[in-house]
Amino acid sequence: MSTQDASGAVGNVTVNGTKLWDDILETARFGGTPKGGIRRLALTEEDRQVRDWFVRACEALGCTVSHDSMGNQFARRPGRENTLPPITMGSHLDTQPTGGKFDGIVGVLGGLAVLRTLHETGRETRHPIELINWTNEEGSRFAPAMLSSGVFAGVFTEQEALDTKDREGVRFGDALEGIGYRGAESCGAHPVAAYFELHIEQGPILEVEHKTIGIVTGVQGMRWYEVTLRGQDAHAGSTPMRLRADALVTAARMIDAVQTIALAHGPDSVGTVGLIENRPNSRNVIPGEVFFTVDFRDPDDRIVQKMEEAFYAQASDLAEKAGLTLEIERVWDTPAVQFDPECIASVARAAETLGYPAQQIVSGAGHDATYMAQVAPTAMIFVPCAGGLSHNEEESAEPDDVTAGANVLLRAVLEADSRL
Ligand code: GLV
Ligand code: MN
Ligand code: MN
Repeated sequence: MSTQDASGAVGNVTVNGTKLWDDILETARFGGTPKGGIRRLALTEEDRQVRDWFVRACEALGCTVSHDSMGNQFARRPGRENTLPPITMGSHLDTQPTGGKFDGIVGVLGGLAVLRTLHETGRETRHPIELINWTNEEGSRFAPAMLSSGVFAGVFTEQEALDTKDREGVRFGDALEGIGYRGAESCGAHPVAAYFELHIEQGPILEVEHKTIGIVTGVQGMRWYEVTLRGQDAHAGSTPMRLRADALVTAARMIDAVQTIALAHGPDSVGTVGLIENRPNSRNVIPGEVFFTVDFRDPDDRIVQKMEEAFYAQASDLAEKAGLTLEIERVWDTPAVQFDPECIASVARAAETLGYPAQQIVSGAGHDATYMAQVAPTAMIFVPCAGGLSHNEEESAEPDDVTAGANVLLRAVLEADSRL
């Protein structure tokens, strides 16, 4: 079938934007914060609540809902040919500790809006259509990010993921059992024909360019590190400056180096220290141990590599000069990803047909689509968020833009159903 025919076969269908917005507000109650954001860390009670809501909402649309051994949830709407692998949509319902109402949620509830349209219009598809809620996308509680789509894609083994511990020492596998979402289906044993993910941009470009839709062509490369610096705890009053092995002072210099390194490399390079633990963290004790994380990203993997080399060299130099011991572990390496040209074209055509201003864009944030691109033809759809702000309780998006994104998702899924 030619692309024109495939696009034409989609017809004139749209999602119910009001219901989609209501769903966003309703689920924001699970872990809702006084500032209007969400704290819904992976595999917590709040995560269980939103998962249970997801099951009920999908079942009400005639879907069957299952979950795999990593807790990934799959809502399935049968097609005419149920032996075909499904066309899938998805994102995540977990959030950062001070997350907003849109990161991840727009993709899952936008997919739910697509299922609702298919259900209410009695639309038959050739392939089954599935909506996926991925476990622990954020990587905030259990590092790294996209852990369960990573197992699904074979990037991590299930055992290493289940054995991952949060900062309190709680095992992922135990937390998953604890909320009742460890399923029998082996993670990854689920065929997929194509994957589409709707998400807020989490950056400022679409808003500045007055575009409603970002046609995402890929995701930049990223690496995470865990750094432990050890000196000696000592009395803050009686230990002369020249005799100190103060881990925090050297950590501060390393944190400064992360910023300097990111600024000195590519125009789009970024470097962040987002988590730091100072021990023993007492006001009159010289800090003897500091743990912190580093996040380097760039669309060009060679630049990420150069930033890593610069950081390793500067960190060991700083530690040596201060007489401290240093451990650096690279805990995550996700090379830059290019999405599937046909799926990207489906997104672009959908935006054009619907008359939404659109442009191509590369994702600065990680997404489950990064790993799904290794499994099946994949693309993403971005919609703007206010001021480009994300990973913040004040994260905000316009209802019309979210609806537009879900409409593009609907058309891209239907076009893929005709094409594949
Ligand atoms: C995921 O949210 C990431 O980009 O870190
Ligand atoms: Mn996200
Ligand atoms: Mn996020």
